[in-house]
Amino acid sequence: MKKVITYGTFDLFHQGHYNIIKHARELGDYLIVGVTSESYDIERGKLNVRDSLAQRMENVRKTGLADEIIVEEYQGQKLNDIIKYNVDILALGSDWRGKFDYLNKYCEVRYLQRTKNISSTMLRSAGTIYRVGIVTEDGEDHGIVWESKHVSGIHVDSVFSRDEETARSFCEKYELNSYWNDYDRFLEQADIVYVKCPAPEKLEYVDRAVREGKYVISDSPISEDSGVLRELFHRAEERRVVLVEKIMPVYLRAFNQLVWLIHCNLIGRVISVKCSISRDVFGGGNSFDETVVHGVCAVMKIMGQSCGDVSCNAVSDDRGEPVYKVITMKYPRALATIEIGSGLDVESGLTILGDGGRIHVPGDWWNTGYFEAKLRGNEFLKRYSFNFEGNGFRYLLQELMIMIRDVRTECTRLFYEESEALADVMKIINSQSDG
Ligand code: CTP
Repeated sequence: MKKVITYGTFDLFHQGHYNIIKHARELGDYLIVGVTSESYDIERGKLNVRDSLAQRMENVRKTGLADEIIVEEYQGQKLNDIIKYNVDILALGSDWRGKFDYLNKYCEVRYLQRTKNISSTMLRSAGTIYRVGIVTEDGEDHGIVWESKHVSGIHVDSVFSRDEETARSFCEKYELNSYWNDYDRFLEQADIVYVKCPAPEKLEYVDRAVREGKYVISDSPISEDSGVLRELFHRAEERRVVLVEKIMPVYLRAFNQLVWLIHCNLIGRVISVKCSISRDVFGGGNSFDETVVHGVCAVMKIMGQSCGDVSCNAVSDDRGEPVYKVITMKYPRALATIEIGSGLDVESGLTILGDGGRIHVPGDWWNTGYFEAKLRGNEFLKRYSFNFEGNGFRYLLQELMIMIRDVRTECTRLFYEESEALADVMKIINSQSDG
């Protein structure tokens, strides 16, 4: 009996999928079809899949051509499957030509002609494409245009800047469709607005975009006044639009898993959270406040909002610019410290110490797919690793698109209440900074 195997995501099942399965079946007597799992697709950077795994497997089953359907869960599984199922032929579409020749040692590799003019990508893009407009005062996109290409249903289309020349050169550099220095007209043509500019204009731009019923992403903090934020969120709910803050870790799988594990008592009762950020590697041209907000948010996600006492000490340079800040947040039986340096050799990292062990995220912890745990009574490190691609912005965009699709206005990664508590802490910190 000749066994054939083929693989795919088979999202929005189409004629091309049917054809390749049929042609693969014709090559032998028994056909195994491997369908990619959701986590594998995310891991390999395919963030735009619409159908669930169950749906995609059901669609393959309905062809009546597959003798067996399996799930493809990790890179390298193909070789394991070939050996495990004693496969004679691996069949793949011609778009993969040459890519799997190394498996010729184990079975015959056949590349079958792809069906022309159809793909899941084409079908996905036939739906609504949301046009993103960027509000900026500088000429850098900080990777956003590139990141957006990894999320389906979204296209960075325009840019607004008060300074026409900044807008024009930004538009040219990133090959956008239009640039504007009239905010009202800019808003008319955008569906999603990303406000990436300093305070106080940031708040005004966010507010006007929400009033016009636009979905909004904003650098954080939007405002240090929790009352103002509450009103903004209220207005966003009324207009049925999403307003999300760009605080990277909350959108990342690794950070969320870390928080869940701590809340599930992995390291016992938390005694201390310590995080350090070197602004120089933080990237994104962020202000001191935007850097601080990441540390405060991480602490609040881990420790909750019942922070009793916040204090901040800063060291400034000759021009009065802060170069070093240490923020301490006191909890009933725990202490959190956030250390931020600018132009100094601060070693970035996040360590959470519990009475049953510790968790450590080395390096740029706000943008990573990795952390490790050392549990009491266990001499070995337990390592957790998740795929992390690009600069992480795609994960925020993906969350936004899921919210739009599900017609949800409040982000479950960062609840309104958490944003407001964060603003209160930021206000205290800034009132205490003597820099
Ligand atoms: N395939 C094909 N003809 C098409 C589309 C896909 O023969 N027009 C084949 C692929 O070469 C692959 C299998 O079908 O061997 C599964 O492909 P998949 O990546 O799931 O489908 P695509 O439509 O290519 O998806 P996407 O646009 O997301 O890349």
